[in-house]
Amino acid sequence: METIDWSNLSFGYMPTDYNVRYTYKNNAWGDLEIWDTPDINLHMAATCLHYGQEGFEGLKAFRGKDGRIRIFRLEENAARLQSTCRGIMMAELSTEKFKEAIVTVVKKNERFVPPYESGASLYIRPLLIGTSAQVGVKPSSEYLFVVFVTPVGPYFKEGFKPTPMVILRQYDRAAPLGTGIYKVGGNYAASLVAGEKAHAMGYSAVLYLDAKEKKYIDECGPANFFGIRDNHYITPKSSSILPSITNKSLMKIADSMGMIVEQRRVPEEELETFEEAGACGTAAVISPIERIDDLDANKSYIFSKDGKPGVICEKLYNKLRAIQYGDEPDTFGWIT
Ligand code: COI
Repeated sequence: METIDWSNLSFGYMPTDYNVRYTYKNNAWGDLEIWDTPDINLHMAATCLHYGQEGFEGLKAFRGKDGRIRIFRLEENAARLQSTCRGIMMAELSTEKFKEAIVTVVKKNERFVPPYESGASLYIRPLLIGTSAQVGVKPSSEYLFVVFVTPVGPYFKEGFKPTPMVILRQYDRAAPLGTGIYKVGGNYAASLVAGEKAHAMGYSAVLYLDAKEKKYIDECGPANFFGIRDNHYITPKSSSILPSITNKSLMKIADSMGMIVEQRRVPEEELETFEEAGACGTAAVISPIERIDDLDANKSYIFSKDGKPGVICEKLYNKLRAIQYGDEPDTFGWIT
């Protein structure tokens, strides 16, 4: 058996023992299948390959000090996948079936759930694709749902350390009435050019402005944005950003800590007033933002001068992680 350096995992793919699958045919989902090979046999005319009929999810399992494995907010991920299915006309999977798949794949790959001390976790990646062969642009009549898992470390290589982000006004991620609110592969493909450009310039991510007016903060592509000011947790409301389950959880945590939570449009100028800012998501957890450069406007908004996360970011991060690893009781009912 291979040895894994649990404390130095990156956010990368490592093969694990099993994946699980359901197929949808004749208007019904079949029974759960357990596979020990990673390949998918697809028809070359499958709708996912041509017309992007594909949605995915991301969630995590954590091993606690007590050795028990906790899966975070799986019902929320099931609901978001159902919303994605409605958004691009794919067959919806019930929460019950989603849960059966997730719990089974985690149990079957239990040896890949990192030990508590490593601070790493098991990333769970469900995907749902249209598989029927057709060339007309219409919804598939057959689907495949697959869940694989892989142990991961931090998404941004810096981990819980402030990183710089950039506004690139020449690029949009998603249109206001488009698919930005759904977790579909096309949104991520649409972010690659800007993302790679940002990385080449030393930034960890692009902070997108709203595509219509270029006035309001949208999101960071793979993560939502939040700002902290005067005991307020402020996060954008927008019809083109992915409803992050981590952001939803942080809003609840902030509220429980006595903060005032505001979810509303956030104009770019307001960045000047934030004491702290961060990006949040399942993969990113919380990534504190060091500064945001708006290159075309020749402006910089600075949130960390000493290379350290702000105190509120740190409090939110610690509380979230404590719930996820079972160091604190699951008072919100988020753990399976
Ligand atoms: C997640 O946070 O789980 C995501 O899906 C973002 C990602 C593209 C890695």
